[in-house]
Amino acid sequence: MKLLETRIQQDGQVLGADVLKVDSFLNHQIDPDLMAALGQAFYDSFKDAPITKILTVESSGIAPALATGMAFHLPVVFARKHKSLTLKDNLYTAEVYSFTKKTTNQISISTKFLSADDTVLIIDDFLANGQAVEGLIDIIGQAGATLAGVGIVIEKTFQKGRKLLDDRHIKVTSLARIQAFEDGQVVFAQD
Ligand code: G4P
Ligand code: NA
Ligand code: NA
Repeated sequence: MKLLETRIQQDGQVLGADVLKVDSFLNHQIDPDLMAALGQAFYDSFKDAPITKILTVESSGIAPALATGMAFHLPVVFARKHKSLTLKDNLYTAEVYSFTKKTTNQISISTKFLSADDTVLIIDDFLANGQAVEGLIDIIGQAGATLAGVGIVIEKTFQKGRKLLDDRHIKVTSLARIQAFEDGQVVFAQD
């Protein structure tokens, strides 16, 4: 998606060998017009699937997932990373391992908000090692729901998440695909 690639070139900062900082429009400050365009792009890609729900993980997935839900006029559910007073019983939970932080965290969704009647589109901000998406797919399986596909704002093709999903024949739409960082510059995959 040209609009997103241009924005990444203009406002993204490459940190070290493999991290892109995009806190001026996605991960801290959020650009709502850009989110609306991303939501429309995910709609265009997945509109022929019988989707009933958009699913993501807090916190950075919520903005693009909400924009997608607005394009589809469908509810958006985000998995929570912490249990709370009001979220402790009747949960689907999955373990999400972070290779970066070398820690495992639990994500949870109330059984109220996902069932075998649902066909789900997963949306997330980044696809790196794919562990968050794997956790959501685990939860979709627990609910007996159907996975329609995965929509990603920024994919890093050089990390292992994309291959994990391709190996499982899951439809993945990534709006920007980064092949490498070279001398602090972003190199997009050509396709
Ligand atoms: P990893 O730590 O093994 O890479 O695991 P994973 O791919 O699940 O990524 C962990 C967190 O880091 C996720 O956010 C993910 O969105 C974010 N992330 C991965 N690569 C990048 C990157 O290049 N740039 C930025 N800005 N973020 C990246 P999270 O911990 O779930 O946090 P939240 O922001 O959603 O709350
Ligand atoms: Na995320
Ligand atoms: Na993040």
